[in-house]
Amino acid sequence: MRLEGSTTRVVIVLTLLLVASSVSMSMAADTHSSRGAALMNACAACHGPDGHSQGAIPSIYALPKEQLVDALRAFRSGARPGTVMNRIAKGLSDDDIAALAMHAAR
Ligand code: HEC
Repeated sequence: MRLEGSTTRVVIVLTLLLVASSVSMSMAADTHSSRGAALMNACAACHGPDGHSQGAIPSIYALPKEQLVDALRAFRSGARPGTVMNRIAKGLSDDDIAALAMHAAR
């Protein structure tokens, strides 16, 4: 009887831990995508709302994730020449680029 009681308690504690950790994991994912959304606001002036460009500047919403990451890294390192993107990419960390890719790309 005593054993059953403590087993139940262990199960309850484990269940609570599991729920707590999955909640904090989904909060982490939300933080990441809202960070991507905030960063994307800085791109909207040129690339259009959420990367849907209406002008001559390329749209970035339909780029595959890897291509967005590669392009931003190449702009940042100077490997890919550009007019403004080199300066913009220099202000982005790897985390920023990952958050942008999560938010913007397919
Ligand atoms: C001042 C305007 C401007 C802003 C702001 C801007 N871009 Fe750009 N972007 C450009 C231009 C212009 C190009 C074309 C390359 C060049 O001339 O630098 C470009 C090119 C790109 C490309 C390559 C597209 C392709 O099809 O290869 C990516 C990816 C990109 N930008 C991402 C971003 C992201 C992400 C942000 C926000 C952090 C951003 N840009 C902010 C003007 C801008």
